[in-house]
Amino acid sequence: MELFGIKINKFKQEQIIEHCQNTAVLAAYFSDLIEFRHGDPNHVVLAAKLHDIGKLKWKDKLFFSPYNMLTKKDWNQIYAHPADGVKILKNYSFNKNYNIGNPSVYDIIYLHHERPNGKGYYRISDIPIEAAILHIVDIFDACIANRPYKDAMPVNIAAKQAVEHFTDYFGKKLTEGIEQRLKQIYPFRDNPIDKNLFSVKNVAFMEIKAIQNIKLPDGKISS
Ligand SMILES: [Fe+2]
Ligand SMILES: [Fe+2]
Repeated sequence: MELFGIKINKFKQEQIIEHCQNTAVLAAYFSDLIEFRHGDPNHVVLAAKLHDIGKLKWKDKLFFSPYNMLTKKDWNQIYAHPADGVKILKNYSFNKNYNIGNPSVYDIIYLHHERPNGKGYYRISDIPIEAAILHIVDIFDACIANRPYKDAMPVNIAAKQAVEHFTDYFGKKLTEGIEQRLKQIYPFRDNPIDKNLFSVKNVAFMEIKAIQNIKLPDGKISS
């Protein structure tokens, strides 16, 4: 399979595209919150669907290795993926609308690893709600996924970890609400009997049906 002129194997396809799909569905689940805070839920869902496209440039090692095995060069490649993703999309003139809006889809992708305390990849602390929500659901999906170098984390711990840098940003009550919602989205994940049957995608798409106001945009990366 080729994506944006870059050949990808099945493994990368799962690690990037399925994760992006899951993240988009999770982001849509918070569309009411984004709208309430004067954001644009369409932008965040689309940004989520494309947010890790910069990882297409990664060598396989970065998908397999535990963090303590990575070199400085590897880390630079990891830190570059939000900016690389925007570059790839711009090169392909994927959709001119991605540049429109404040924040634009490109802005949200660029900011998806930033934290309000300024300790994210690019040390930017002034982040829009779209990027904050994408960051949270991104961490959550990564934590509950099995990876070659780690087991899936229980939902309770993943939800706590996902919101941990956002208490000041959203306030204590809202942060707890977000954490609670994350847990509710995946009610079966912790049950060992259901573990093999569980499909993030299926459950996530069941959830999306409950969302009235938003449709997942059709993008080229849909699997
Ligand atoms: Fe990322
Ligand atoms: Fe991600």
